[in-house]
Amino acid sequence: MGTTLITGAYGQVGQELVPILTRRLGREKVVLADIASPPERFRDYPNHRLDVTDRATLEKVISEHGVDHIFHLAAILSASGEKNPARAFMTNAIGTHNILEAARELSVKKVMIPSTIGVFSRETPRRNVPVNTIMKPRTMYGITKVTGEMLGNYYFQKFGLDVRGVRFPGLISYSAPPGGGTTDYSVEMFHYAVRKEKYACYIDRNTVLPMMYMPDAMKAMMALFDADINRLRFHSDYNISAFSFSPLQLEEVIRKRVPGFTVTYAPDYRQEIASEWPETIDSSDAARDWGFRAEYDLDSMVDDMLMNLTKKER
Ligand SMILES: NC(=O)c1ccc[n+]([C@@H]2O[C@H](COP(=O)([O-])OP(=O)(O)OC[C@H]3O[C@@H](n4cnc5c(N)ncnc54)[C@H](O)[C@@H]3O)[C@@H](O)[C@H]2O)c1
Repeated sequence: MGTTLITGAYGQVGQELVPILTRRLGREKVVLADIASPPERFRDYPNHRLDVTDRATLEKVISEHGVDHIFHLAAILSASGEKNPARAFMTNAIGTHNILEAARELSVKKVMIPSTIGVFSRETPRRNVPVNTIMKPRTMYGITKVTGEMLGNYYFQKFGLDVRGVRFPGLISYSAPPGGGTTDYSVEMFHYAVRKEKYACYIDRNTVLPMMYMPDAMKAMMALFDADINRLRFHSDYNISAFSFSPLQLEEVIRKRVPGFTVTYAPDYRQEIASEWPETIDSSDAARDWGFRAEYDLDSMVDDMLMNLTKKER
């Protein structure tokens, strides 16, 4: 694996991916780029202030470092995208097109672009959704992420560019804060529980959504990166899944470990987004083609989150 560029490197996913790639490649071969400035612990990496909508600067960074691989994580997520749809379109659709064009022109070997369950919609089956299904998203995030998937598949078919991606469910992690998605409530609930505070949830207590613990998400992305291309029947749109829960179910599992923890429910505009998404996802194609398997279930994820956040609070 050669020099690797991460765009959106300081977000929830990027902050987890940087140490994984550093262990494989060493710090000098992990090039970080984000529109934001780097957190203290990433200042020693090669890093660039980069807006992915700026193709000229993007190409300069790729050339300067002789980039072999790109993990394109820069994005505006679902809830933030509904507040600023024009920015979401520019970042997610134009930014992704810029990445693919730059990768094609500058002979980048492989591009990883995560997608999302936000590509689905109320027309999609509610349960056990397969990879190929009806997708008519109504959020700018969903629209631009479907576009990203289709562009990725197009660049593979038309230009032979190796583009791969998984559709992440809502991601739960303790190190970096989530960045404006609809499932952020699940992470927030843990922080309130550890501080022994009451949490006000903006999603209805009974809305079930697919979720995954970050270590499984990272393992999945790296397994797809390493997979033999001849075994891939899909490219930019692999479903992956671990477990599903409603806010009420999460509240109850946390309360078993944090007695007295309470949550109130006042759904806001994000409920409309959540209501469009399915409850469970079929990840059997990822299992068959590149061995995907999630290790954490709801209970083991909750135990690990509480242990790590309690340590951090001390
Ligand atoms: N976190 C989740 O629950 C989740 C779920 C499904 C899919 N995903 C996907 O995973 C990827 C990473 O998401 P994340 O959770 O880390 O998001 P995030 O919001 O936490 O981080 C995104 C990063 O991109 C940067 N960024 C925004 N606009 C930019 C621009 N124009 N140029 C360069 N950088 C820019 C932000 O500063 C931020 O650091 C995205 O493709 C997202 O769609 C995430």
